[in-house]
Amino acid sequence: MDNLVDGATYLDGLPFSLWQWMREYEPVAWHEPAAFPGFWSATRYDDVKAVLRDPEHFRSSSGIVLRPSAQGADPGGNRTFALSDPPRHTVIREAVAAWFAPRHLNTLQAELDVAAHRIVQKAVEAGTIDFVADVAAQLPVDLICAFLDLPEADRPAVAGWTNQAFCAGTARERSLAHAKILGYFADLAAERREKPGDDLVSALASLAVDGELMSLDEVVLNCDNLLVGGTENVRLATASGMLALLEHPEQWELLRRRFDAVESTAVDEILRWTSSATHMMRKAVADTRVGDQQIREGDLVVCWLPSANRDHRQFGDPDVFDLQRSPNRHLALGAGPHFCVGGRLVRLEMRTIFRELCAQVGSVRSAGIPERLDSIVVNGLRSLPLTLQPNK
Ligand code: HEM
Repeated sequence: MDNLVDGATYLDGLPFSLWQWMREYEPVAWHEPAAFPGFWSATRYDDVKAVLRDPEHFRSSSGIVLRPSAQGADPGGNRTFALSDPPRHTVIREAVAAWFAPRHLNTLQAELDVAAHRIVQKAVEAGTIDFVADVAAQLPVDLICAFLDLPEADRPAVAGWTNQAFCAGTARERSLAHAKILGYFADLAAERREKPGDDLVSALASLAVDGELMSLDEVVLNCDNLLVGGTENVRLATASGMLALLEHPEQWELLRRRFDAVESTAVDEILRWTSSATHMMRKAVADTRVGDQQIREGDLVVCWLPSANRDHRQFGDPDVFDLQRSPNRHLALGAGPHFCVGGRLVRLEMRTIFRELCAQVGSVRSAGIPERLDSIVVNGLRSLPLTLQPNK
């Protein structure tokens, strides 16, 4: 079970057989403290959902992902809304919610269609590509720049830093690019506090929590959270989704031939199957139970989302990739009050990019061995070499 907190485990794919064993025999399992603090692992669907839906007992403000004990507390704790609890969480979440509602998202569709068409056209013209960098990473960055209403002139630089922050070869290059993003948002937040516009950065810069304006640092961390949340997981889910389609050619053919008929269920099955957020953590603030297990105040509980999404108690044939699966109440986007605020946006982006792929690509072939990430927080591909043939 200690393999779960070793990044190397994920280089060979997700540990589904270990999770299956845990769901059967030790669904709420204790991990002794070592490099990470001690924690409980929840692997069954019902237990994971119950923890995520219970902010009374399980809090987010001390961190939502496992961190090595040597790194200390999460610097985002009680500052970003993902790492806040009610009432602070509720105030910030309500302030940003309108930007993720259909009325605002509909205004982005035309821009998204143009961007997706251009990205796929370029990839098809190139023929052999790295699908992660050349397709999956592109659309979310373009979109989030539009979403945050970044000035047109700044977008290429922000897009470049964001791609570097995720895809650059060395950790130093990745962290330098991330520092540039933080610096950029620091200037933008200060500017929009002075001269607010009708955009999400201005909404955050003008937001009062507990009667006080959020500090500019908090605004920056929340913007960064949106940029990272809005790009990293979409990139991973899109790329792993493409790999799943390559490995299930009958599902790729189904999507290509009957896109309009299956699009409403296909994206959710890709989200369930790929479950790119590997775990979410909570801290118990009172004694309680998860399944049959007693949990004490102060205990950490780690919810393994890909495991919950393969639980046969919830899903028929959970290990079958079925684009027509319905119902499909997966937990890839979380559950409860912290349910992914970008849930609608993800679906919109993935529908748009897969629609373009189906329209422009005839056949897809592997052009090399895909490389996986060695992270315990998110899972998926670092690279996916593919050859795309145009649709005739
Ligand atoms: C495939 C794509 C995505 C996946 C798999 C994903 C996954 C998740 C999950 C599991 C959570 C729950 C966190 C928790 O319970 O503590 C979450 C929350 C969140 N997501 Fe996403 N996400 C995706 C895309 C996006 C996008 C496009 C955005 C925004 C532009 C976004 C922004 C956020 C934010 C800000 C939160 C925190 C919400 C809160 O605490 O109230 N995510 N996401």
